[in-house]
Parts: sequence; structure tokens; C-alpha cells
Amino acid sequence: MKAAVLEQYGPADAFKIKNIDAPSIKSGQILVRNKATSVNPVDTLVRSGMFRLVTGLFGEHVVGSDFCGIVEQSASPLFKEGDEVYGFNRAMKGGAYAELVAVDAREAAIMPSGLSYTEAASLPLVATTACQGLVKFGKLRKGQNILINGCTGGVGSAAVQIAKSYGATVTGVCNGKYAEYARELGADYIIDYKNEYIPKNKQFDLIFDCAGKLTLSDVEESLKKDAMFVTTKGNLGSATGIFKTAVDLVFNPRMKFVVLKPSGTDLSHLRELIEAGKLRHSVHQTFPLERIADAHRMVENESFTGKVVIEIK
Ligand SMILES: NC(=O)c1ccc[n+]([C@@H]2O[C@H](COP(=O)([O-])OP(=O)(O)OC[C@H]3O[C@@H](n4cnc5c(N)ncnc54)[C@H](OP(=O)(O)O)[C@@H]3O)[C@@H](O)[C@H]2O)c1
Repeated sequence: MKAAVLEQYGPADAFKIKNIDAPSIKSGQILVRNKATSVNPVDTLVRSGMFRLVTGLFGEHVVGSDFCGIVEQSASPLFKEGDEVYGFNRAMKGGAYAELVAVDAREAAIMPSGLSYTEAASLPLVATTACQGLVKFGKLRKGQNILINGCTGGVGSAAVQIAKSYGATVTGVCNGKYAEYARELGADYIIDYKNEYIPKNKQFDLIFDCAGKLTLSDVEESLKKDAMFVTTKGNLGSATGIFKTAVDLVFNPRMKFVVLKPSGTDLSHLRELIEAGKLRHSVHQTFPLERIADAHRMVENESFTGKVVIEIK
């Protein structure tokens, strides 16, 4: 099968398009003929070798989480050959920048109707992160007043829409040039992170930082008593930020770090939201697998809304 292969970790140019053996599947898994994947920020970190102690020191690596395509072999009662599925592998497992990807059947779902493979591949990892961040870790309840930091990014765009489907009032923090896009997603109030601060008036029931820029102690004065702070990353931009994030995580139960878990159940719930028109996709640009290096450079260096999707033909 064709795949974007890393023989060594490194810059975006490290990818080589090669023919390699297809993965084999074991009981409980499916083999998906993958039509599209997307580039998530974590893929660029895996590619750089940051997680090499987990992803492996030697040998070839196929990066990539999101997948969308057709079941080619099934060793699970959950899916049959020909089913159209979507989902994501854990970033440390990868495997999705390839024509065939092995997936645990419980971590996939039937893809949403009315979407192309390209559109559907833009959603699984970011929308599941948003869903688990808000509902599982943030305990979002109907009608709450919440703040979403990074509200026009991949995770943030999904988070705004999911929060609105819960009837939340959403303040979105984003780059001011995307304020109109944030309003279209459903944000009720916008804060331009380049020119404004998050108000310190203890009004929010939940703050979800999906830009990965904050820790609880940065925004505690904006939260109501006992309200939760959920982050996808923490404030890791400086030594002080790393220290504060570590202290908050260890000593303050109001701070939760999203530990993302692939879930067919969550993906099925997201499919319902998509089919009901409550969660829309946004594809910024598509690249063929052969141009994976350009796609990685775009995600690493450019500001945009929507996802960078890789089409596999
Ligand atoms: N823990 C987990 O399991 C998990 C899962 C998924 C993602 N993540 C992490 O979560 C982060 C977001 O992922 P993503 O896919 O949504 O990335 P993304 O699409 O790149 O979105 C990041 C957003 O943050 C905005 N931003 C940058 N600086 C900001 C600031 N100072 N204040 C507010 N917003 C700011 C960016 O706006 P600009 O356009 O101005 O750059 C962009 O819209 C990444 O670090 C990713 O690795 C973690």
C-alpha cells in the first residue's frame, strides 16, 4: 500500500511516499481503505521525534490519526466489509497517512451521511476532543455560561458548536480577524486575544482552553466558585507557565487535562449532531498524500480557520 513514511524523525521534508506492507488486523479490529486523513498539531510533534520514546526509536513510522473510508476487512461484529466509517487512531499509534489503516472497531463509527470523505476526515479527532473536553472533563450542563479559548481552531470550532447544542452561552476567544467566523459558529460574545483580556469578574461556569495557552491560575478570577478549567495542553510557553500548570494540575482539582480517548460511542453522537446540522465541518485546504510535507508546513507556520485535509487516491 501507499503511505507517507518516516524513515527518520525530522522536519516536514522527512516524509517519503513509499509502498509498504499493509497492516494486518487481529480480532476486534477492522482494516479501512482510507480515503482521507487530516493534519493535527500533534502529528507535527510526532513527526519531529518529540515522542520517540513512545512511538519507537528505530524503524519506519506512519504518522496520522484521523481516517475516513471503506471497511475492507472486518474481524469484528460491529462492522462489515463495505461499511463507510470514520474515526481516529491515538496519535502515538498513528498509521492514518496511508491507503490502509488498522483500527479497533470500538473506536470507529459509521461516517455521517451527506459528507464527503474529505469533509468527514476533518472532524474525528478535534470534535471528539471538544466533546470529551466539555462534557466528560468539564461536566458541561445545559444553559451554562462558558468561555472557549482558541474558539476558531480545530478543537475550538467544534467546541463552540457542541456547547451551543447544550444551550450554553459562549464567549469565544480568538484572533480578531476571525471574529465573524466565530459568530457564524455560534459564539455569543467574542474576545480578540491580540487586543483584549479575559474579564476577571467571576462569571464563567467553565473555561475550556483549546488553544493550549492557559492554566487555571491564569484565569481563576474569571471563574465562578468551584467552576472547572479544562485544557488540551496547559500553559507550556514559558518556564513559569510550565511550573504553574504543573502546580495547578497536581494541587487543584478544578483543573482537568483532556486525556483524549477514541470512542465509537462519541463518534456516533457527533454523527447525530452533524446530521442534525448542529456541527459543521470546515476544510481550509486539501492536499494529496504526495504533498504531505506542504500540509505539515502549513499547519506549523500559518494562521487559518478550518482543517488541512489529506486526500488519499
Ligand atoms: N490533550 C489532548 O488530547 C489534545 C487533543 C487535541 C488537541 N490538543 C492540543 O490542543 C491544541 C489545539 O488543537 P487544534 O487542533 O484546535 O489546533 P489549531 O487548529 O491550531 O487551533 C489553535 C487555535 O488557537 C488560537 N490561538 C493561538 N494563540 C492564542 C492565544 N494566545 N489565545 C487564544 N487563542 C490562541 C489559534 O489562532 P491563530 O489563528 O491566531 O493562530 C488557533 O485558532 C494543540 O496544542 C493540540 O496539540 C490536545
